[in-house]
Amino acid sequence: MQIGQLDLSKRLLLAPMADVTDYSFREIAKKFGAGLTFTQMVSAKGVLENDFETLRYLAFNKNEKPIGVQLLGSDPELIGSAVKEIAKYNPDVIDINCGCPVENVTKHKMGACLLDSPQLIGKIISSMKKAAGEIHISAKLRLGGSDKSINIFENAKAAEDNGASFIIVHARTKKDKYDTDADWEWLAKVKSKIKIPVVGNGSVFTPEDVVKMKEQTGVDSVMIARGALGNPFIFSRYNSISDNNFDPGPPGIDLITETAIEHCNKLIREYGEFRALNFMKKNVIWYYRDFNGITKLVEKLMACNSANGIIDIINEHNDKIKLQNYPDEDLKIIQQKFKMKVLFWLVQEPVFSESFG
Ligand SMILES: Cc1cc2nc3c(=O)[nH]c(=O)nc-3n(C[C@H](O)[C@H](O)[C@H](O)COP(=O)(O)O)c2cc1C
Repeated sequence: MQIGQLDLSKRLLLAPMADVTDYSFREIAKKFGAGLTFTQMVSAKGVLENDFETLRYLAFNKNEKPIGVQLLGSDPELIGSAVKEIAKYNPDVIDINCGCPVENVTKHKMGACLLDSPQLIGKIISSMKKAAGEIHISAKLRLGGSDKSINIFENAKAAEDNGASFIIVHARTKKDKYDTDADWEWLAKVKSKIKIPVVGNGSVFTPEDVVKMKEQTGVDSVMIARGALGNPFIFSRYNSISDNNFDPGPPGIDLITETAIEHCNKLIREYGEFRALNFMKKNVIWYYRDFNGITKLVEKLMACNSANGIIDIINEHNDKIKLQNYPDEDLKIIQQKFKMKVLFWLVQEPVFSESFG
């Protein structure tokens, strides 16, 4: 599966994630070996209206290539015009979001609503393809509206027949919540029916999961979403398995801390100190979610309102973890909460499931 010089069958993709895969996040993922990263979804209409926030989410740096941009929309003509604009900046892939189930998106018949109409998906891809020149077009699909209306074959075929270079299949339906496992069996079925490359997505949290998904389903490559939050190491570990058949194992605490601080400094550069604070806090919590002391860390971060303060908290937390100064916590419960909602610390019990694209 070739994108420019890159063979994606040997490398992983970083999923588009709203409010997460900003420039800082993508740079860190790339540093650790992500093969292809994506911007978060941006509205095609916003691109044409030169909306400031839309253009900000869309912006990428030349040194990020290969890079994908993800569009949200439902009108083939309008999406085609947005692709024409974006093509001027020469990303490597432009993807159409056919999976976001959030009400704000579906009430405009975008995102997962497109799944109801393979014909419309076909028209959108065809219009994108015409406008894109040499740039690859992809579609990020879910299995269907619900387990009673799975139509992934029709949608995948519509993408293939109208010129998509590859499809990404998130192996859940629009109705499925994130705490349920993605149904990988569908990936194998899609792979057997579709000629263009298929990228598998859903419930991949470790390098072993990547290997299992590839072995069990035959997908050409794998896209990582929640598994990359606070864990860019998943990319380097998988690359080592792919290249040398060797998993170096989870990172030591010093590497985690060094990376968390590097990530924070990038966020300050990207947003300025004031706006960066919330991004810093959530990413730092994700970096340490597998360690005792996470509850204390959350408490301290939430009470902090300066970038230097956050860096001090990280360093102190690092020392305490090394000295085993924290009492044991039920980290399985933290993991469960994280799977239900990635911003698990913001939710009062009981935790409700969230659903993004
Ligand atoms: C915080 C968050 C934001 C997301 N934003 C997007 C998005 O902008 N576009 C999209 O296609 N999917 C989005 N998704 C869905 C992911 O790309 C991915 O399909 C999903 O999380 C399933 O993979 P996982 O089970 O490995 O996390 C988002 C997911 C999360 C957790």
